[in-house]
Amino acid sequence: MKKKIKVAVLVSGGGTNLQALIDAEKKGDLPSAEIALVVSNNSTAYALRRAEENGIKALTVTKKGTGGQEQMEDVISAALDENGIELIVLAGFMSILSERFVRKYDHRILNVHPSLIPSFCGKGFYGLKVHEAALEKGVKVTGATVHFVNEIPDGGEIIMQKAVNVLEDDTPETLQKRVMRQAEWKILPAAVEKTARKMLAEGFEA
Ligand code: GAR
Repeated sequence: MKKKIKVAVLVSGGGTNLQALIDAEKKGDLPSAEIALVVSNNSTAYALRRAEENGIKALTVTKKGTGGQEQMEDVISAALDENGIELIVLAGFMSILSERFVRKYDHRILNVHPSLIPSFCGKGFYGLKVHEAALEKGVKVTGATVHFVNEIPDGGEIIMQKAVNVLEDDTPETLQKRVMRQAEWKILPAAVEKTARKMLAEGFEA
């Protein structure tokens, strides 16, 4: 059988982007990748249910439970090694990973961000706050970005972007939903497949 890149998805909340990846894999849209592990830093994340319902191994690793950011990252890192993970996807993972962690996985961590980077990104811009800022600024077009993660929050190389129109009567919630539906849930699976395919073509060895 053709080798697939083993992917871990890191989550904190609802996990609709995780669901988009699961659905893409089921539809055959992720031929180069296999979702092998879900890691949540929040024990009540609905994303954990999605993993369970789809038979994907899932773990909860919290800062509180492990004793701090460094310890949490060490536990995550060990779980990635144990499960032979080759590519990491941050899908609504609401914790900024340390330079030490991201350096270890250079060009092996993807993140989905709900704006067109470099707008409305960096420290403090996450979840609904991104859409609140876009509406406050009055932009007429926003969107989503998938990028590699480096030591600068939302600063790594861009892999894919998709634009979404802002409507007159948008609230942060309606805009968030449209950006997810029209952009995030499409470009995240596409970017994972693109990256995994490239890793296989380059003869990636973990
Ligand atoms: C998504 O909109 C994702 O882009 C955003 O959080 C949401 C998570 O939703 N991520 C960030 O803001 C990261 N800076 P989900 O749990 O339903 O996938």
